[in-house]
Amino acid sequence: QKGGFASFMDKEIHDQPSAVADTLRGRLDERGKLKLDEGIIAETVLGAVDKIIVVACGTAFYAGMVAKYAIEHWTRIPVEVELAHEFRYRDPVLSVRTLVVAFSQSGETMDTIMAVRHAQQQGAPVVAIINVQGSTIAREADAVLYTRAGPEIAVASTKAFLAQIAASYLLGIYLAELRGNKFPDEIAALLAELNEMPAKIQLVLDTSEPVRELAHSMVNERTVLFLGRHIGYPVALEGALKLKELAYIHAEGFAAGELKHGPIALIEPGQPVFIVLPSPRGKEVLHSKVISNIQEVRARGARTFVIAEEGDTEAAHYADHLFTVPQTPTLLMPLLTVVPLQIFALELASAKGFDVDQPRNLAKSVTVE
Ligand code: BG6
Repeated sequence: QKGGFASFMDKEIHDQPSAVADTLRGRLDERGKLKLDEGIIAETVLGAVDKIIVVACGTAFYAGMVAKYAIEHWTRIPVEVELAHEFRYRDPVLSVRTLVVAFSQSGETMDTIMAVRHAQQQGAPVVAIINVQGSTIAREADAVLYTRAGPEIAVASTKAFLAQIAASYLLGIYLAELRGNKFPDEIAALLAELNEMPAKIQLVLDTSEPVRELAHSMVNERTVLFLGRHIGYPVALEGALKLKELAYIHAEGFAAGELKHGPIALIEPGQPVFIVLPSPRGKEVLHSKVISNIQEVRARGARTFVIAEEGDTEAAHYADHLFTVPQTPTLLMPLLTVVPLQIFALELASAKGFDVDQPRNLAKSVTVE
């Protein structure tokens, strides 16, 4: 069942190229029209949407944060991302023009179910991005876009995360087309690039040995920090979550720009800091700003582990350890940059002798509020 891997988690991390390929395959017609798996929301309703709210918990929430950057940019519709358990208690402003998008691997997370019901009671249409066919949220949502990651056994989510991100790109591209695509060239290039993603994820997996070695040298760490900016920010948060979940090490993810507003006080000599570095080919200013953040933590003695794009000639100067991922457009980078962080957490937890498939105190799906 584990396909020769030591754990389901290791197998599921290695399933990611096919999870993404299967999620993307055959979804969009030549007009960029998305085929939803179940249910229908009329195009007139979708075309009139003036706000999107993503609701989710845990890793799915971070997939929603990634989706915000992409969908907002492509569609110019404001996107909010909200923890499902906070959503209905703050009395959110919803209408028939608010599209609520629920992200959930299991489709059984009670917090997310309750958020979906609340949205529907207020008249908002709900699209669900779900991995488990026929689950509660899949049945109750107005329309479903299934991720096709296959069964995810390990409690901590990996391949479902990548599949959720891939599905959200499809939704974003679809909504962009529906509303008169403002970036036709960019979106055509993105569709081509998405086809390349499974091979690129495979390349990251094939070159992951240095991350595994690093993890083995860090079993005695007490706290690890993760920095990211823009679409790298949710990746940093997910990297920290994985380390908490699997290795029971205190870990925190920060928006790199926030460092100077508080978290830099945590930096003392030897502090390990992972940095998800934006592409120098993207918004160049972001690359140089995060380089400055790296310099700031290094000046205070931090050890820096930098995830950078191949061909980033500057990154090596600021990294105690540099891990590279293939080049891809900025908005697609999370599909690659999160993989070394997943492997790091898996390997560190394994080196500590922990059960990576069944971490203590956690359940695969939490069916109580
Ligand atoms: C948690 C799981 O309880 O629920 C996480 O341990 C998961 O791994 C979160 O990300 C949300 O689950 P789901 O099924 O709604 O994506």
